Amino acid sequence: MIKFLLKIAGCFWGAMFLFSCDSGDIYPKEYEGNGGITVAATFVFDNTDAFPNDYPLIFGAFGNKQSIPLASVRVMKPKNNEPVKVSIDNLTPDATSIMLCLTNLGRQPVFTLFEEDINVDAARDSIIIPEAQICLVSYERIQRLIFEQYTCVSCHQGTTGAGNLLLTEDKSYNELVNKVSSKNPAKNRVTPYNIYNSFLLDILEDDNLGMTQPHKAFVTRNDDDIVIIKEWIKNGCVR
Ligand code: HEC
Repeated sequence: MIKFLLKIAGCFWGAMFLFSCDSGDIYPKEYEGNGGITVAATFVFDNTDAFPNDYPLIFGAFGNKQSIPLASVRVMKPKNNEPVKVSIDNLTPDATSIMLCLTNLGRQPVFTLFEEDINVDAARDSIIIPEAQICLVSYERIQRLIFEQYTCVSCHQGTTGAGNLLLTEDKSYNELVNKVSSKNPAKNRVTPYNIYNSFLLDILEDDNLGMTQPHKAFVTRNDDDIVIIKEWIKNGCVR
């Protein structure tokens, strides 16, 4: 009987072994490239509901951080929060950093989620970036990609701002979170953990609220923007 059980266990481990060999996840095979230096990274995304749709997310090698990448791969939304493995082969020595970033359609970075300097010249082998946790929902992403990108700040700046609201950097958080709306005093502009008591969301989603300035059209990347604001509020408005 024991022999029999051992046999079954043996088959099981054998099967597991074959399976793992077949999966293609083994580093030397995957990251060898064509003899050049490869950079490989593994990212674990928190809150994939806020995974960018409208801004392509890329893993890229850069020579100059402002410019387009020397080489890049598109990173797709993982199923079931699985870690995402990415790699770029045959790096050229002018690559000085790698970035995981949201880009515009011209492939220029608009928001960076992860960044590390690399030295291709000094590398003898593949450059392996240790697994990194990526935070997709952040106040900084909202500030950069919504308040500044859509020029909300062009009206909501100065001493008081349109609607008595400032959305400029360093001001916007305190002006929004737990502050009563001047247009609808029954609600806050933003209430942590409560999307229904957050007037900011109302005016970006509904143009029939009697605003002198309709706001819905200011937000054009609806898939990304409304979702990230909602997730940020649901998670308690972490700064
Ligand atoms: C063209 C100028 C303009 C732009 C651009 C603009 N706003 Fe406004 N905003 C206003 C005006 C004017 C009001 C006040 C309207 C009223 O009282 O009826 C207002 C009101 C608001 C309010 C309500 C404040 C309160 O206390 O009730 C919020 C929130 C807001 N804007 C957010 C934004 C966001 C976010 C953006 C960018 C996506 C933006 N605004 C872009 C002019 C603008």
